[in-house]
Amino acid sequence: MELPKLAFLFSFLVLLTVSSATSVVDFCVADFNYPVGPAGYPCKNPGNLTVDDFVFSGLGVPANTSTSVFNAASTFAVDITFPALNGLGLSMGRLDIGVGGVIPIHSHRVSELLLVIDGTIIAGFIDGNNVAYYKTLNKGDIMIFPQSLLHFQINVGHEPALAFVSLNSASPGFQTTTISLFGNDLPTNVIEKITLVDAAQVKKLKELFGGTN
Ligand SMILES: *[C@@H]1O[C@H](CO)[C@@H](O)[C@H](O)[C@H]1NC(C)=O
Ligand SMILES: *[C@@H]1O[C@H](CO)[C@@H](O)[C@H](O)[C@H]1NC(C)=O
Repeated sequence: MELPKLAFLFSFLVLLTVSSATSVVDFCVADFNYPVGPAGYPCKNPGNLTVDDFVFSGLGVPANTSTSVFNAASTFAVDITFPALNGLGLSMGRLDIGVGGVIPIHSHRVSELLLVIDGTIIAGFIDGNNVAYYKTLNKGDIMIFPQSLLHFQINVGHEPALAFVSLNSASPGFQTTTISLFGNDLPTNVIEKITLVDAAQVKKLKELFGGTN
């Protein structure tokens, strides 16, 4: 090969190396035009992103707790509401709990860290040996709820309570036990058998949570 051709090939290779070095994948903002898989969503074209893709502004707003039978509401920055979290393994939420209100017993695949900002709550979880760990928490207290364990929060103070939570998944997979058990279409006699809750109570709870049969 003559020298000019070699030089051209060499500079081409250098260019290739440089461009592949600059295409490191640092993040993967979710592109909802494609279906989600076990590893999350495909990425938006990085060339089309701005700083606003990395900012979520919804957690400063108190939610209306009186729309819920539990007198509580949560607002979450998770992959579907904050696409920049896709693939990064964390999320954040805001809990507003009215006086006497409750975040009902629930679970998710990952652990949760809760920080109390206002008010007084009883928070607890039940472990795999059916041991319950619960405590009254005040402003500034944090509590960890280990992955997949059933847990809850109750406002026991005289003012609305506010807490923030952080979970180590962008898609924690929430399952609220009472709503799951009674907000479904399983026949009442099946629910009765699998829970030992009597039929009248099953029907009452099905009505409350939109279950049928
Ligand atoms: C990126 O933005 C350009 C210009 O607005 C648009 O034509 C293109 O479809 C966008 N690409 C993706 C992957 O969203
Ligand atoms: C909260 O929701 C209740 C019940 O739907 C409604 O009556 C009330 O006006 C709402 N409050 C605010 C501040 O939006």
